[in-house]
Amino acid sequence: MKANDIQELKRQALDEAAAAPTADALEAVRVKYLGRKGLLPDIMTGLKDMDPAERPLAGRYANELKQELGDTLAVRREAIEAAGRAAHRAPFDGTLPGNWRACGSRHPVSQVIEEAVRIFHGLGFTVADGPDLETEWHNFDALNTPADHPSRDVQDTFWLNDKTLLRTQTSPVQIRVMEGRRPPVRIIAPGRCYRRDTTDATHSANFHQIEGLYVDRQVSMADLKGDITHFAREMMGADVKVRFRPHFFPFTEPSVEYDFSCHMCKGAGCRVCKQSGWIEISGAGMVNPRVFANVGYEPEAFTGYAFGMGVERIAMIKFGIEDIRLLYENDVRFLEQFS
Ligand code: DAH
Repeated sequence: MKANDIQELKRQALDEAAAAPTADALEAVRVKYLGRKGLLPDIMTGLKDMDPAERPLAGRYANELKQELGDTLAVRREAIEAAGRAAHRAPFDGTLPGNWRACGSRHPVSQVIEEAVRIFHGLGFTVADGPDLETEWHNFDALNTPADHPSRDVQDTFWLNDKTLLRTQTSPVQIRVMEGRRPPVRIIAPGRCYRRDTTDATHSANFHQIEGLYVDRQVSMADLKGDITHFAREMMGADVKVRFRPHFFPFTEPSVEYDFSCHMCKGAGCRVCKQSGWIEISGAGMVNPRVFANVGYEPEAFTGYAFGMGVERIAMIKFGIEDIRLLYENDVRFLEQFS
């Protein structure tokens, strides 16, 4: 055997490897050349009988044969396997269910707030905001709440020090807005409130209100009734009834409380409405002239209405939730019912 014969054999081996159609055929090529009884071991054994002058070159060619054939076999093996994988891949089936991902849901309290913002936006209201940590001035004094009013008591209010407290209502946002701009004012202010209430099925120390304030020339109680009735119908459905009852708040005069007919029993009487057919939603009234004086609005020139409604109340009757505590436990099985 000559060195050139080895070169010829290499070309042939590489051609065969590159053309092998299947894994078995490829393996046969490997065995034929590189296997224990294959051609390459034969050549290696034959080297010693060769013309010494030609032996080094022949040895080099034999090594090249081994190296290059090994590489070609590997490349071809990879290509055959890839083709096999592609052939076995199932054809696309558009009827199979897609990848499912657990998705969160909006909290009922957030849903009610978002819906209220949408409804009042349609009446020209924008959203205002205030801090949870309030001053005594904004939460009580400016709202015409007397120094000896029971709501200021430590039993009702979380005080941080003499002058600072966790707001007990969203009404201080009214003061902040009016201190900052001139009428006309048309805002709602959703937010958290804090009271030293013992938690039970209808009370929580932390709850939400939506404050509303509309100040302009000649705003009347009729505006309040009309806007609240519109809000009730949008929020609860067209068949809801609204009733206004006289009440007292220091910051409004006259003051009312208003109720929605019970969404659960449609007014017939049930557990949720304590058999009355009505659910108390909110306090409201015409802004007290003393409040206007406290923020520098001229009480002779302007009138306004205000309201502050309980978000959890609305969420409970809208979604049929009988215990307020469910809203704060964050049990996913509960929350995902409102997605
Ligand atoms: N802030 C009152 C409360 O928490 C609710 C309220 C009543 C707000 C009358 C008002 C209002 O703006 O005019 O009980």
